[in-house]
Amino acid sequence: MLKRIGVLISGGGTNLQALIDAEKNGIIKSGKIVCVCSNSAKAYGLTRAENAGIPTRIIRKNADCGGDIDEFSRKICEYMKEMQVDIIVLAGFLAIFGGDLLREYADRIVNIHPSLIPSFCGEGMYGLKVHEAALGYGVKVTGATAHLVNEVVDGGRILLQKAVCVEEGDTPEILQKRVMEQAEWIILPKAVEMLCQCSE
Ligand code: GAR
Repeated sequence: MLKRIGVLISGGGTNLQALIDAEKNGIIKSGKIVCVCSNSAKAYGLTRAENAGIPTRIIRKNADCGGDIDEFSRKICEYMKEMQVDIIVLAGFLAIFGGDLLREYADRIVNIHPSLIPSFCGEGMYGLKVHEAALGYGVKVTGATAHLVNEVVDGGRILLQKAVCVEEGDTPEILQKRVMEQAEWIILPKAVEMLCQCSE
């Protein structure tokens, strides 16, 4: 039986697109994306989901949950259960959640982070900030990590990592694009397939 995959996004959704494409071309063969949930109404990833015929829901921490993180987590959890989701993918989901969702989906949530964990990760390290920090430190190699999600931000078990070279003259934007193309869009679908195959 195909595992039912729910994807959480916040923005452009290029990682979501990589998952949609991976399902089409058979890299993800043990699961099927059944819904996409965004914490922002403006996320372009919502359009990508609609174009692929995937149901979407917007759940915002402030506008829909009065800024309450537990309520936010509960609402997302409810939606995932309503859609009978087995596995959750954080594909550029830039909000923190806790409680219900972590308990209900323990060891069944995978995140993609744009660095080689344990470098440049943890609370406040997301999106372009990660690449700014990597360039600021002067590392010559960075990359991406697909990992399980637990109560420690970016602290869950690592599933896959891929290294990417930093090049002379890189800006955070240029580096972000290279890390996405050479690492994130490749390892996230593979990690999702791994999780679909091994979760009960
Ligand atoms: C991606 O680079 C992803 O790794 C990062 O946000 C970007 C979202 O892009 N996630 C984090 O930093 C999580 N800590 P996308 O919306 O185009 O997939």
